[in-house]
Amino acid sequence: MESNKLRELYLDFFLSKGHKIVSSSPILVKDDPTLMFTNAGMNQFKDIFLSHSTPKNLRVANSQKCLRVSGKHNDLEEVGHDTYHHTMFEMLGSWSFGDYFKKEAIHWAWEFLTEVCKLDKERLYVTFFEDSVTELERDQETFDIWSALLPSAKILPGIKKDNFWEMGDTGPCGPCTEIHYDNRPDKERGKVEGSSLVNKDHPDVIEIWNIVFIQFNRSKNKELSALPIKHVDTGMGFERLSMIMQAVSSTYDTDIFRSLIENISKRAKYKYGEDKKKDIAIRVIVDHIRAISFSIADGQLPSNVKAGYVIRRILRRAVRYGYTFLGLRSPFLYDLAPV
Ligand code: SER
Repeated sequence: MESNKLRELYLDFFLSKGHKIVSSSPILVKDDPTLMFTNAGMNQFKDIFLSHSTPKNLRVANSQKCLRVSGKHNDLEEVGHDTYHHTMFEMLGSWSFGDYFKKEAIHWAWEFLTEVCKLDKERLYVTFFEDSVTELERDQETFDIWSALLPSAKILPGIKKDNFWEMGDTGPCGPCTEIHYDNRPDKERGKVEGSSLVNKDHPDVIEIWNIVFIQFNRSKNKELSALPIKHVDTGMGFERLSMIMQAVSSTYDTDIFRSLIENISKRAKYKYGEDKKKDIAIRVIVDHIRAISFSIADGQLPSNVKAGYVIRRILRRAVRYGYTFLGLRSPFLYDLAPV
């Protein structure tokens, strides 16, 4: 299935569940000193979660441009070296502002993945919050809701690092439940049980959807305070779901990156897939050109300070990999921007 079609299916699904489809906010954050770039779909709704503003709609969904290159969520060094991290990515999100809560959010995620996308249930695993070293209690309610949908051996407890989501050092946060997909070939799945590979950095057993139950605010002194209203914040990796739906084993092998890879490979006179180091360079470049182009389009030019410096570093990283590993000696990024 083409990625554009998949995005449409996702938005249509949540429209059918009473959600208003809203636009992506710019990738650059201008009005929140705690963030430089949008790192999750929920950023634009921060004031609603904290009850500082009233939502026009209690249910919304969108596809959000995100950039994870600074602060709490920073994937920059992984990008290119593995086959599924990105600096810029699209997050398919859905939200409930004090409206429905855990049961609907979980059931709809399951319905979308298993009935609309028709993913193999055998390959799906989920996690829920349980961390005895925190003051927070095990999320039994989430475990119980999942128990009606899949065997308990596939519902795995996860500690704060994986199952308590926070947008930054401060701000709205809460326990989360993640959905993971085992994309390994059947032969490998037969040898090692997928549940043992969840959240273990295995390139083929990866998180695809995170459903956060926003119930707290983390303040500057690190304390958690309960919010007066409970919300749902979900986010799915568009590139990762596209990978699964297109039956490939890398997000870079989807139609999202195809023409970029073709373009840069041609220029470098190199066939993607033949050399490990060169492949990394290709992935770095095709990832970074999206991050740079969308950031500039949304108003952040590369510079030598703050957010501009982050973009400059991404730009330099792309140039450096092209120069060092692909032997590119003349400017090439400008040529990829239109693609
Ligand atoms: N905010 C959560 C995340 O980014 C869910 O959207 O994972």
